[in-house]
Amino acid sequence: MAKKEKLIINSFHEIQDKNGFISEQDIKNVATEFHKSDAEIYEAISSYANFNLFKSKKRIVKICDSPSCHIKNGEKLIKKASEILNVKVGNEHGKVIIEACQCLSLCDKGPIMMIDNKIYTKVSEEKLEQIFKKEGLV
Ligand code: FES
Repeated sequence: MAKKEKLIINSFHEIQDKNGFISEQDIKNVATEFHKSDAEIYEAISSYANFNLFKSKKRIVKICDSPSCHIKNGEKLIKKASEILNVKVGNEHGKVIIEACQCLSLCDKGPIMMIDNKIYTKVSEEKLEQIFKKEGLV
């Protein structure tokens, strides 16, 4: 990753940590700061699964299903999360959305789960319910 792209991504991490999502105005501000077009910035961040581009009152549970996490039980975690939360994967009509997502770049600490902006590493089926309770999801 080029140095400038790293700085852009770091800016968006800071914004998301502070606000919980990336707004259209944030994209415009970062584009201006880094002398890029809004489209270039949008394209750059939309390829990262861990940025929320919409403000949402819904809780979003993302579980990585890319190869490294998949072989460490990621697929079973997705099914177990669906059972515990009684939500079908990909259903966007409830208060909680469960998504199987692409690599979150923490492969050596997998399986990885992200709830809103918080990352959980080395997640096991046994830990899922505890984490969901801590997050107020069950
Ligand atoms: S494969 Fe899951 S974080 Fe990379």
